[in-house]
Amino acid sequence: MAGVEETDFIVVGAGIAGLRAAIGLSAAGRVLVVTKEALDESNTHYAQGGIAVAMGGDEDVALHLEDTMNAGDGLVNREAARVLVEEGPRRVDELLAWGTGFDREAGELMRTREGAHSRNRILHANGDATGAEIGHSLLRRARSEERITLREWTPTVDLLAGDGEVSGVTLLRPDGSQYAVCARAVLLASGGAGQVYSDTTNPAVATGDGIAMAYRAGAEISDMEFYQFHPTALSLPGVARFLISEALRGEGAYLINDRGERFMERYHPLLELAPRDVVARAITREGMGPDGEQRPVYLDMRHVTGIDPVKRFPGISRFLAQHGLELRRDRIPVRPAAHYLMGGVRSDMNGGTSLRRLYAAGEVACTGVHGANRLASNSLLEGLVFGARAAEAMQAEAAIAAGVAVEIREDTLPKTDVTALRQRLQRTMWEKAGLLREGDGLREAMRELETLSGDAPKDAGRPALELRNLQRVGELIVRSALAREESRGAHYRNDFPKRDDLRFARHSVTKAGQGTG
Ligand code: SIN
Repeated sequence: MAGVEETDFIVVGAGIAGLRAAIGLSAAGRVLVVTKEALDESNTHYAQGGIAVAMGGDEDVALHLEDTMNAGDGLVNREAARVLVEEGPRRVDELLAWGTGFDREAGELMRTREGAHSRNRILHANGDATGAEIGHSLLRRARSEERITLREWTPTVDLLAGDGEVSGVTLLRPDGSQYAVCARAVLLASGGAGQVYSDTTNPAVATGDGIAMAYRAGAEISDMEFYQFHPTALSLPGVARFLISEALRGEGAYLINDRGERFMERYHPLLELAPRDVVARAITREGMGPDGEQRPVYLDMRHVTGIDPVKRFPGISRFLAQHGLELRRDRIPVRPAAHYLMGGVRSDMNGGTSLRRLYAAGEVACTGVHGANRLASNSLLEGLVFGARAAEAMQAEAAIAAGVAVEIREDTLPKTDVTALRQRLQRTMWEKAGLLREGDGLREAMRELETLSGDAPKDAGRPALELRNLQRVGELIVRSALAREESRGAHYRNDFPKRDDLRFARHSVTKAGQGTG
């Protein structure tokens, strides 16, 4: 394999799943972690509210399992959820041993509550910067392992795949040229795809690259119709859709409409702490005026006593202050934004996918652990638990045969500005395949995505590559949403508003060259 770099394991992505896996894999060989921007630019880094974990013994674990099952609206893979809640405490203990500084009071770990949890079991760090704290502690640990190489600013272009097996990846150099790296096994831990929507809490890097490249390589993709919309992203004209953590509602914040009514009592007995999909739809409905105009909906903490909201939520308070808002004084205008993809690369309890030597963990993966609607703060735990499991399974992969043929396309096409096309795609997805969908709109979205695919430039620069990935993810979402003629969890069809267990109590699966089944 002249000119081809070799390692034992490749990890694509440096969020919680990727870093946890890399630490595990370093016991068995050389690990190359690649990430397309700086190491701390991931969804993990922006996670605010916390990590849900049942540290209170067997009863707590059993309740966490039931809460996860209930939030998932009949589609949670019980085995995956059992693994998540049972192995979670051990993995969080490991984090504590590695120096993760979760918030404490009188020496005890503080625990808060979020939507659809029956107990206070969410650990947090620095108030509302939990993901950043976990990410930094994993990074410290990864940096101390000699066999881990962390390579930033390195987008992955594609998987090297053939005959149902993956043998490595092709990577993009800053000068635009590509090179190949071969390995015994590849882990996709590249996170979500919030950028497929115009309104998202996700950073610009969340372009669904892992899902698109796995699809191109022939892997099975599952449950793409289930995109979770976080109910409360800041809603100010011209301001990024900054996340206002569910933990504010956990500490007692109310949702009120523009008439000052606390409206959640009309939608769910758990009020502001109802499952996330229910709250997101309620806010959308309350914010819809009779002529389709958008009316404000607010998060209100002004009545909350017993905590100082500014101290409890320092990051959120800092951001709000830049826009003249203060949690103790003001109602905060909010509306939903795309937040978390329940679907992804179909994977088993050990991260194994339908392609040999290809693994997936974290948001890019779909074990079915979240069903149709993820329970709040289960995602960091998912990355930790399934990242560790994938690392264990990958160690069993033998060395690949020498002389794997690697063909790299030389790209001499001029690099193009794709900003306008990306925005067109995002608007189409938001308007026609967002929180409330219906057949006609989804079919229009599909036509628009097909046109866009024709218009998209073919060069191998990162913007064009991301656009093609987003276009593919968009198509997968729309196709799966069209096929599911019912409403369940995060997937709501105006034309099929009821859950239909007779026809649809199953996960959707698709792969290249096949429809959605
Ligand atoms: C939040 O802090 O509200 C986000 C937590 C999550 O997405 O689970």
